[in-house]
Amino acid sequence: MKKIVINGGRPLKGEVTINGAKNSVVALIPAVILADDIVTLDGVPAISDVDSLIDIMEAMGAKVKRSEDSLEIDPRGLKNMPMPYGKINSLRASYYFYGSLLGRYGEATVGLPGGCDLGPRPIDLHLKAFEAMGARMTMSGNAMHLATGGQPLKGASIYMDTVSVGATINTMLAAVKAKGRTIIENAAREPEIIDVATLLNNMGAHIRGAGTDIITIEGVERLHGTRHQVIPDRIEAGTYIALAAAIGHGIQISNVLYEHLEGFIAKLEEMGVRMTVSEDSVFVEKQESLRAIHIKTSPYPGFATDLQQPITPLLLTAEGHGKIIDTIYEKRVNHVAELAKMAGRIATKGDQIVYEGPNQLQGASVKATDLRAGAALVIAGLMAEGRTEITNVEFILRGYSNIIEKLTSLGADIQLIEE
Ligand code: EPZ
Repeated sequence: MKKIVINGGRPLKGEVTINGAKNSVVALIPAVILADDIVTLDGVPAISDVDSLIDIMEAMGAKVKRSEDSLEIDPRGLKNMPMPYGKINSLRASYYFYGSLLGRYGEATVGLPGGCDLGPRPIDLHLKAFEAMGARMTMSGNAMHLATGGQPLKGASIYMDTVSVGATINTMLAAVKAKGRTIIENAAREPEIIDVATLLNNMGAHIRGAGTDIITIEGVERLHGTRHQVIPDRIEAGTYIALAAAIGHGIQISNVLYEHLEGFIAKLEEMGVRMTVSEDSVFVEKQESLRAIHIKTSPYPGFATDLQQPITPLLLTAEGHGKIIDTIYEKRVNHVAELAKMAGRIATKGDQIVYEGPNQLQGASVKATDLRAGAALVIAGLMAEGRTEITNVEFILRGYSNIIEKLTSLGADIQLIEE
């Protein structure tokens, strides 16, 4: 087990460069299964989810060459096989192997996905799409088997009852080589969906409307190789911007696409955070007093559910009362009890989180319960007086590349310790 130890309260300043988006690259890597030739991805973050996906791709016979932040993936030696359970249930995004294996072979046997405990995380909409396209699902042990019975997948019109990032991307993966046209209605509009559609179109797919709520896909016979730059990670960027506003004495966050963070930045401005925004960076300084605000998450371009946890330590420094409602995962509250251990006046009340500030957080021993909760605890530890120990930090390393090095370069007293 690994833990992070922080001696908090030190002023942080300097520059952080944001890496490629985790929630894009975890779909881009399985998407390479659909190509008949080499695909190179640039701007790939150094996170353990990428390591797990590379292990799975290599276990299936793909050749993967990694250099700096590039992955050269050769899918030509791939064999369709039941996916290894171990790595499969180490991340939620392993469900993208359903869509890409179905899209290429018309059959997939994949262990059920894992991922953070944010409450129930069904995949009924993924299955609804695959079945509409002619696949039949049976369970074999803890793995789900999808097959078309030798027929090619056929295009279908699919209405998403709930806006779902994963189901939207998975349907695209299955549809790009299906026979005929697929229409996804009530599609998710996240930037990561546009990124995956850009890769697939550069491989020869015909996808229109990615980024809107109606996506149309005309199936094609084959998809060739290409080279693709992963978009910057808007959630990593938001995490560091929140940190900079809470404790920074002048921090520049670089490699940021402002339009991916408009909803988030608007809420920081509502608090009184002063930022200088340019087209690919944000400069943030700590303000003396901030106003408490209410936050309600919603699908893109609304306030991202993934940022309601990392912004919470900043909220705790603000004057007044506020509440946070996560309309996407109402159980995404496991960080609240941990922040309360650090003298934060915060609690859950029904399906809301309520807080009162300002607070001077105190160091404590706390536990990361999921990826973004862990990030919130790191920020809280940097703000707190005294020493903070965070256990279960494997979660944090799944989604934040080089977080110890990045924070150390800003002047933090932080260490990753093997227990
Ligand atoms: C993606 O998860 C992200 N993960 C999550 O980020 C993010 O929080 C989430 O989208 C919402 O934006 C990846 O991209 C790997 P959804 P995903 O399908 O695709 C319900 C992080 O911290 N739903 O958009 O699994 C679901 O229960 C992670 O990086 C169904 O009902 O989320 C949820 O309430 C955490 N049936 C809502 O839709 C389904 O078949 C949105 O989920 C699928 C989803």
